[in-house]
This record gives sequence, C-alpha cells and structure tokens, in this order.
Amino acid sequence: MRVFITRGIPQEGIDILISGGVEVDVFPHDRQPTKEEIIEGVRDADALISLLTDSIDAEVIDAGKNLKVIGNYAVGYNNIDVDYARKKGIVVVNTPGVLTDATADLTMALILAASRRVLEGDRFVREGKFRGWEPMLLLGLELNGAVLGIIGAGRIGQAVARRARAFGMKILYYSRTRKLEFESEINAEFADLDTLLGRSDIISVHVPLTAETRHLLGRREFEIVKPGAIIVNTSRGEVIDESALIDALKSGRVSAAALDVFYNEPYVNPELLSMRNVVLTPHIGSATRKTRVNMARMVCSDVLRVLRGEEPLNRVV
Ligand code: DGY
Repeated sequence: MRVFITRGIPQEGIDILISGGVEVDVFPHDRQPTKEEIIEGVRDADALISLLTDSIDAEVIDAGKNLKVIGNYAVGYNNIDVDYARKKGIVVVNTPGVLTDATADLTMALILAASRRVLEGDRFVREGKFRGWEPMLLLGLELNGAVLGIIGAGRIGQAVARRARAFGMKILYYSRTRKLEFESEINAEFADLDTLLGRSDIISVHVPLTAETRHLLGRREFEIVKPGAIIVNTSRGEVIDESALIDALKSGRVSAAALDVFYNEPYVNPELLSMRNVVLTPHIGSATRKTRVNMARMVCSDVLRVLRGEEPLNRVV
C-alpha cells in the first residue's frame, strides 16, 4: 500500500502510516505542488493526503486508479470534489474537532486586535509617533457588554462564543438549526441573519464554504450591518464578497475587519493591504504545534483504517 502526501506534515502522523506497513511518499518540495505534480503523485497510490490548498477535482481523482481514500489535512473540504469521490466509491476523511480550540483562540486574538486597534498601536509606536499618554488616542470598542454575532454555531463558533462570554460579551448566533443546549449554556440568543447583522458590534463567521454559504455576506448584508460593525473571518474567504467588504470599509459602515482567510489565497487584495483598520493573518487558524500534530495523527490514522478495510472515524463521504 502506498500513500501520497502533498506536503510535509508532522512526523507523528507519518509514523502511524509507516508502522502500519504503508509506504509513504511525501511531495519533496517546500511549496504547493502543481496539479500535474499531484496527478503524478496519486498515480499508483492507494491513498492521498491533501491540504486545503490542493484542488482535488475529478481529473486528479481519475488519475488515482487505485485510490481508496482521500484524507484532507483540514476540517474544511471545499477543495475536494466529494460528490465525484462518492460516485467513484472513494472515501473522504477530514480532521474535525482537533483544531477547534486553536481556531477559536485565533478568532479571539483577531477580535481583540481589531476592537482594541492593536496593530494600529504597534505601527504608531514603530513610526515614532508616540508622544505620551493621550485622552483620545486610538480609542476602541470595549468587549464587555458588546454584542458578538456568531454566524455558524458549529464546534468553532461555539468555542468562540464561550471565550467571548468570558469577556462579558452578549452572544447572538445564526445557524441552520437552533442549538438549545448551547443557548442555555452561555445564554446565547438565536437570531435570523438580518437581525444578527443589524444588532452585532462584532460579526464572526464560522461556516464551511458550500454553494449556499458562498457570499453569505455580500453588498445587501453590508448595507444592513450595524454602523461601525467589525467583521472577523477565520472560515473561508469566499464566504464574504471581498469587494463588498472593501467598499463597506471605505464608506465606514464597517469600522474594521480582521481576516485570516482570503478570497483567492494566497492573493490578498492590495486595497486590504493598504487599510490600517484591517488586521490580516495568513490562514493560521489551526497553526499551533499541538493542533497540527493532532491533525496529522487524526488524518493518518483514519487513512490507515480505510486501507485496512475498517470504518474511519471522520468520514465525510
Ligand atoms: C481547516 O482545517 O479547514 C482550517 O482552515 C485549517 O487551518
């Protein structure tokens, strides 16, 4: 049995495959493989471990004549044509749960950075502008008593809400289904999307990217957000219509944004780069050593299970 991994991942995961008697072939370069290189790697492979940056479409899947399983080293799997994999009887697994805390922590970091203007302050000091304490310098939004609107109350959305409660925030959430336990646990209030947009001081997005969630926040939505709202996105860039967000930032309707994900990564719109009230991080929601090791263990164990004919723990299809 042979597994092709499109990029080096923590050895702790690879060791699981090796001790399971599987031959592991890791893409040898420190860059994203091209589509041709993925196709080359997947030929003769029994399993593929991909990253969210790899487009695993029908052509790639067809190239893997012996392919039995695709393991995505991510919780989001919008990069894989799962319908086609299902049609071909190929199992797809992902890494849910293990990255919840890391992603929720980064979301709080972004909420704090945007609301308290941390990066603006940092730049201000570095540019030699600090002349001493001033009554009106870099005034921001106080989290205690502010309303956080969580869009998507899955694992990560709920984990963010718990953290935000500890800061004294009031939680509104919008989700396909109501989560009654979550509501009573942290006194969260369910709202339809428009109500949430109109009432939230900070809006944080936690939905997977699907046909339904693409541009969930677009021009219409930015017209009804509470004036001065802050937008935070640690899910997928395409959930937000980026040019509509940029216009809302320019008009001041949105006062700040903190983005860990972008519309067409790794491209970042130069207008975002030039805005001082925008905090930008390079898709590092799950980037803690502990989480990345756990993701590697999780995806490799599940791939091994499928190769042994067992049922995986985190089957997507
Ligand atoms: C995921 O797993 O989908 C995250 O975006 C990775 O950080």
